[in-house]
Amino acid sequence: MTPVKETCLIAWLVTSLGVWELVQPIAAEDSQCQRAEHPVITYKEISPWLHEFRMKNAVDFSQLTFDPGQKELVVGARNYLFRLQLEDLSLIQAVEWQCDEATKRACYSKGKSQEECQNYIRVLLVGGDRLFTCGTNAFTPICTNRTLSNLTEIHDQISGMARCPYSPQHNSTALLTSSGELYAATAMDFPGRDPAIYRSLGILPPLRTAQYNSKWLNEPNFVSSYDIGNFTYFFFRENAVEHDCGKTVFSRAARVCKNDIGGRFLLEDTWTTFMKARLNCSRPGEIPFYYNELQSTFFLPELDLIYGIFTTNVNSIAASAVCVFNLSAITQTFNGPFKYQENSRSAWLPYPNPNPNFQCGTMDQGLYVNLTERNLQDAQKFILMHEVIQPVIPVPYFMEDNSRFSHVAVDVVQGKDMLFHLIYLWWSPGLEPRSDSRTLALSTRPR
Ligand SMILES: *[C@@H]1O[C@H](CO)[C@@H](O)[C@H](O)[C@H]1NC(C)=O
Ligand SMILES: *[C@@H]1O[C@H](CO)[C@@H](O)[C@H](O)[C@H]1NC(C)=O
Ligand SMILES: *[C@@H]1O[C@H](CO)[C@@H](O)[C@H](O)[C@H]1NC(C)=O
Ligand SMILES: *[C@@H]1O[C@H](CO)[C@@H](O)[C@H](O)[C@H]1NC(C)=O
Ligand SMILES: *[C@@H]1O[C@H](CO)[C@@H](O)[C@H](O)[C@H]1NC(C)=O
Ligand SMILES: *[C@@H]1O[C@H](CO)[C@@H](O)[C@H](O)[C@H]1NC(C)=O
Ligand SMILES: *[C@@H]1O[C@H](CO)[C@@H](O)[C@H](O)[C@H]1NC(C)=O
Repeated sequence: MTPVKETCLIAWLVTSLGVWELVQPIAAEDSQCQRAEHPVITYKEISPWLHEFRMKNAVDFSQLTFDPGQKELVVGARNYLFRLQLEDLSLIQAVEWQCDEATKRACYSKGKSQEECQNYIRVLLVGGDRLFTCGTNAFTPICTNRTLSNLTEIHDQISGMARCPYSPQHNSTALLTSSGELYAATAMDFPGRDPAIYRSLGILPPLRTAQYNSKWLNEPNFVSSYDIGNFTYFFFRENAVEHDCGKTVFSRAARVCKNDIGGRFLLEDTWTTFMKARLNCSRPGEIPFYYNELQSTFFLPELDLIYGIFTTNVNSIAASAVCVFNLSAITQTFNGPFKYQENSRSAWLPYPNPNPNFQCGTMDQGLYVNLTERNLQDAQKFILMHEVIQPVIPVPYFMEDNSRFSHVAVDVVQGKDMLFHLIYLWWSPGLEPRSDSRTLALSTRPR
């Protein structure tokens, strides 16, 4: 059982609108099914099943997680951590987590505003009976390790650098593996010019993506991360390095092997298994209309499906779509050829994959003999896959013009004779989702 399958489905609910969609089960062969109009229910219509939580001074409800028993919801807001009853969002514990005055003063002296010089919670992860959480702490990120059943009880406080962004505006993601490694994708520095996917804590050596190398990461906005099998996956959008005419943003899936221990002489302290591929979410046509910018994802592990919200660029007409990807299509793309550019003036060309069906290999080959089956020269050269990851069906599941969705959550429910996918979508018209999230709402599934 996964979190969503339990009693209810939770999500951020920002100010006003929201749609609730009932989608037929995925059956790629059944073209009738693909074309079926999905019933759409508005936020107003589900309001009888909606619970709300708000507290004076608490804004920016940006992080949510569950306790292992699935009874409680742990929430990170600006300067606050909350434990709420999952059933009705009633408050169990509220803990203030403020920056101290000296840190705030140092933040102002760097030219940052009062609004920015606060503690925005950006990492909130449960590991056993502990909560590992990080906040921006007035551009001096810190992390604490707390008792999950009593959030005031702090065990450790460590630097949040490379684990949490400095700025509340920077988008980041992090996960904790069962063996205690933290994988964070975030800006590593104050100005936000050094983005990285970074592993720390645990017993494996710290590793990162190559620094200041636009072929690895090019002004990314990180969206989500998942621990799946031998790999850790990251979803983000970034400037497309392979696109030569003008600046374009593409959405990506990337992965690294969890047993990667970095290179020797070459790629020292750096991933040797980092690869990424483009995600295609578009309205088909003679000239497809692309929703290039990934905003949010939701993973259904029992079906190996990843739901994503994609939008157009902020500077163009607003439009959003929901596309669904299966893990086998993602794996297949990573097994295929790479896209390779000999030098900055040459064209990007497909290049055969030297290790198709790459499965991370073994790390324990004696003294650093073969770290993974990947050759280090190849690992440095081949980052981007040639093939594009295509969605399960070519037409987006849902499209809407004039709006920019910000969050998606999916619940699978058993109908009379089939499974239904309930897609919850949220957006806030004309407002930054993060800075205006003053209310946390939860919707229980109608019975
Ligand atoms: C949190 O504390 C526990 C117990 O001291 C420790 O085992 C764990 O490694 C810590 N986690 C992190 C992420 O620091
Ligand atoms: C929670 O932890 C704090 C700090 O260790 C302690 O003072 C408080 O009594 C604890 N609360 C409960 C309910 O155990
Ligand atoms: C983070 O993502 C949000 C939502 O897509 C976007 O509005 C914001 O500009 C992003 N932050 C940065 C620094 O790009
Ligand atoms: C994306 O999907 C559309 C619809 O199937 C297709 O026409 C288009 O060629 C695809 N684009 C890429 C880059 O794969
Ligand atoms: C993980 O990698 C090992 C070899 O390193 C392989 O035997 C195993 O099948 C892989 N696991 C999965 C889930 O693919
Ligand atoms: C290391 O891997 C290469 C292929 O990448 C292989 O030719 C070589 O035999 C391997 N060495 C050991 C000691 O396994
Ligand atoms: C996974 O998605 C691909 C399209 O990317 C599709 O061709 C394939 O049938 C899907 N596989 C399953 C098991 O649904």
